[in-house]
This record gives sequence, C-alpha cells and structure tokens, in this order.
Amino acid sequence: MSLKQFIQDLRERKEIAKSGGGEKAMLKQKAMGKLTARQRITSILDEDSFQEYDMFVEHVARDFDMEKKILHGDGVIIGTGTIHGAPICIYAQDFTVAGGSLGLMHSRKICKIMDHALKMRVPLIGINDSGGARIQEGVNSLAGYGEIFFRNTMASGVIPQISVILGPCAGGAVYSPALTDFVFVVENISKMFITGPSVIKTVLGEDYTMEEVGGAKVHCEISGNAHFYAESEEECFEQIKKLVSYIPRNNQIVAKKIEAKNPLAKMKIENIVPDSPKLPYDMGDIIRSVADDSDFFEVMRDFAANIIIGFGRMNGETCGFVANQPLVLAGVLDCDSSDKAARFIRFCDSFNIPLITLEDMPGYLPGIDQEHMGVIRHGAKVLYAYCEATVPKITVIIRKAYGGGYIAMNSRHVRADFVFAWPTAEIAVMGPEGAANIVFKKEIENAEDPEAMRQKKIQEYKDKFANPYVAAAKGYVDEVIEPADTRSRLLHALAVSRDKFAYRPEKKHGIPPF
Ligand code: HXC
Repeated sequence: MSLKQFIQDLRERKEIAKSGGGEKAMLKQKAMGKLTARQRITSILDEDSFQEYDMFVEHVARDFDMEKKILHGDGVIIGTGTIHGAPICIYAQDFTVAGGSLGLMHSRKICKIMDHALKMRVPLIGINDSGGARIQEGVNSLAGYGEIFFRNTMASGVIPQISVILGPCAGGAVYSPALTDFVFVVENISKMFITGPSVIKTVLGEDYTMEEVGGAKVHCEISGNAHFYAESEEECFEQIKKLVSYIPRNNQIVAKKIEAKNPLAKMKIENIVPDSPKLPYDMGDIIRSVADDSDFFEVMRDFAANIIIGFGRMNGETCGFVANQPLVLAGVLDCDSSDKAARFIRFCDSFNIPLITLEDMPGYLPGIDQEHMGVIRHGAKVLYAYCEATVPKITVIIRKAYGGGYIAMNSRHVRADFVFAWPTAEIAVMGPEGAANIVFKKEIENAEDPEAMRQKKIQEYKDKFANPYVAAAKGYVDEVIEPADTRSRLLHALAVSRDKFAYRPEKKHGIPPF
C-alpha cells in the first residue's frame, strides 16, 4: 500500500471506531435530549484541543454473545485537551455502547487516563453515562470499579477531580463521583442512585420514579451529593469551565490570577445589614460587595443554604468564601451545613486557596433531630477542617458570633490569621435573651415587674458582653473595622499572608470525625 492508502485506511478505521453503538443508538441518545460522548468532550474543551487515546481498544467480553452486542470499542472515550489553555485529562462514557456499562477494557481506559492525570498533575474530568457494572463481565467489571476508586482516592487532594453525571450512574458506580471534588448534574438527564426504583419496589414495595430517587434536584437539594445544578448540558459545560478558571491544576501551585474587570464595581456594603439585629439580610450581598467585579461562584447553592460556600477573586486571586446565611435558619450550623463547609475548607486548603470567613450566626441548630442525626460529630468536622487548614485564613465577624459557633467559624483560637469585627458584632457565649434568663433568673422572678427586669438585664448583658470590644480587648479580634473598609482590610491581610508557613506535627494522617 502507498502511504496515501495507509492514511486512507487509518481514517476509515477511525470512522468505524467513532461510530460507537451505531446510528440507531446515537439517535436514541439524541431523542433523550443527550449529546454523544464525543460531543460532550469537545463542548467542554477548548476548540480543536481534544486528543483521543485508545480509540482502537476493543472489549474482551465473549460470554452471552457479547461479541455480537458490542461491535467496536468498549463504551468509553478518553483523552487530553485544554480549558482556558490549561491542560485537562478527560473521559466520557458512551451510553450507545451496551448502555455505557463498565467492562474490563472500559475500566482500563479510564484508569489509564486517571494515571496520566495524576502523573502529569492535571485535573481530571469524568463524564458518567452508564448502566453500571457490565453484568455479562462479572467480577472483571467489579474489579474495574475498585481500580477506579483507588485512583480517585490517591488523586484526592493532588489534582482537582470533577464528575459530570449525564445519564444514569447506577449501583456502586456512584462511588467514583462521590470520591471526587465536584459533581455536576443536569435536570431530567442525571440519575444517580445505589438502589433504583425497581429494587426499591421489590424490597420495600414502594413506588418511586427514577427522578424522585436520584434526579438532579434530589442530589442538589436533599442528599448533598451534587455541587452544581444546570438545566441543560450546555449550561453545565459553562459551569465546569468557570469552576476550572477558579482552581489550580494541582496542589503544588496557586490558581491562575485573573485581573478584575472593574474591582470597584461593588455594592454599598454599609447598606446591607439592617439596623435591627433581629432582621435577616443576604450574606451573599456582603460577599459580592467585597469580591472582584461583585462576582461570586457559589458551590452547593441549593443544599444546606444556611451556609454559603464558593469562590470569588480578590485582586485577581482566587479565594474560598465560607459564610453564614442569616436568611436561612438565621445562619445556624447544623449537620448538613457543617458537612458542606468542612469539605469545602479542606478542598481550599489542599489547593492553596486562601479562606475568607464571614460570620453571623446564633450557634448550632437546637433540637432532638439534630442531636440524633449527630450534630456533635458533624459540627466537629468544621472545627477539624479549620484547625487543620494552613492556607491564609481571615475572618470578619459581621454580627452574631455566639457560643461554639464563634469558635468554629475560624476564630483566632482555631488559628485564624486575622480576625476583624464590625462594630455591630456580638461575641458572647449565647444570645443576650437566653443569657439574661439563665444568669439573672432569680432577680427576674423576684422583681415587682419581671418583664421590665428581664429587659433591663438583657440590656446589661448586651452592654457588657454582646459587642466586639471585650474580644478586641483580649486580642481575640485584631481590629474593629468600619464596614466600608472590609475589602481593603481583606486585601491587605491576603497580601501579607502570601508566603504563610504554618507548622503542623508530622503524622501519617489525622482522624477527622468523618
Ligand atoms: C450490561 C447494560 C447494563 C449493565 C444497561 N445495559 N445496563 N448491559 N450491563 N449494567 C444495556 C441494556 O441491556 C441495553 O442493551 C442498553 O444497555 C441500553 O439500556 P436500556 O435499559 O435499553 O436503556 P434505558 O431504558 O435508558 O435504561 C437505562 C438504565 C437501565 C436505567 C441504566 O438499563 C438499567 O437499569 N440498567 C441496570 C442498572 C443497574 O442496576 N446497574 C447496577 C449494576 S450493579 P440493548 O442491547 O438492549 O440496547 C453495579 C455494581 C457495581 O453497578 C459495584 C461497584 C462497586
């Protein structure tokens, strides 16, 4: 054959390899409102940057007529490319080939690109669209999952790992996304569950739709398994690109600096917090009033909304924001919000992203439900995460900082580098009402006018303790600042913390209250 013929032959082979499960299956995929695996990859990556590997790898399943069922490849596409010019490793399961089920060679391809990502220290994106372990390949497919989970765990904290659920992600398959840092889901397309509706029906006799068991909303609002929700695949891909712009490629470097378009385009911070400490406000507005371009990329927006987590930039550099949300449950810490915050703090710490904590919270959510659900061990996760973190850590106490919540929300005592308080801050063991009722119980009961006495004692307690000056007098708060100075104080604190070194004792690893 001439070189021209060799090239022609190669091209034909590639066309066949790219045909996946065939035209009919591709049309079925389209009819479900889903893009094909290759379309998904090329939509996420920079134009023309995708380089595919292992296109000619074939499956090895021979039982149950599998050689007739899968004609080409093994239902997954792997490769490298760039997002915003920075390298990325990526894989996408192809549902058109045996439902994207995971067989031996399928798992080997995924493991190859995972190994590559870890060796080259670049982020990994995995697109899941699969019926799970390939039933016809038995233990080989289970082994494949085990190999993937091991790699997810080894890569954790070294490279960012992103999972995108664009179809079913069923059975044990869900544990790879669960081991990664961020999970993206899309309305009507993502379905993620251990036991699907048919199993639930068989075992419990209860009827549910797949959407009710593990749809996109369920994982964003109830289970907390997903971090980003989109209404279409296109919107999801834009979210992925935005996330990638905020985070570094690996744990040895810092995120790329992106200059603000208009750093001073911010809201008037003095007008956000109402005069009455009983009235709520949107803490998101405070974040947007200090971050570059008033731009805040919120993570897990719809789950445990009493705490806000997400990324913003300060003078072009990525910061992680953790903030109580007075609009929801007065911003208390509870089981879910503790989990949400703790995991985010650990992500930021692993990837050299400074943490800014904005505090306004009356403590932990009281109630027997919370106690029985383990608010003690969940709440301890926040303490653990802040104590352990060595990135620059700055706190601004906006209003309430009561009890254990004061300590947990990156206080000086868990090693905040800088603690600022607004003059509106109330730092105390508990709220003035509760405190007065306990400490002055007898005086109130014995008074001629108990209610008047109660109000007097509340005021006394407020004057004495519920302000920032007692903490400032002990140096627990570094400076009481005017709200309008918040951004400039944060910028200065970040600038002087750039080369921070914090000693932690050597150990194999700690034992966080998982
Ligand atoms: C082999 C599979 C498969 C699987 C789907 N297919 N799942 N083949 N192993 N796990 C095949 C189907 O036979 C079908 O082949 C094609 O993929 C498309 O599937 P459909 O059922 O026609 O599609 P749809 O109606 O869209 O339903 C998709 C689905 C359903 C919801 C994913 O197929 C399903 O429930 N599959 C099983 C899901 C599951 O229970 N997985 C868990 C496996 S156990 P044809 O030739 O007809 O087109 C597991 C344990 C792992 O994963 C443990 C790891 C630790």
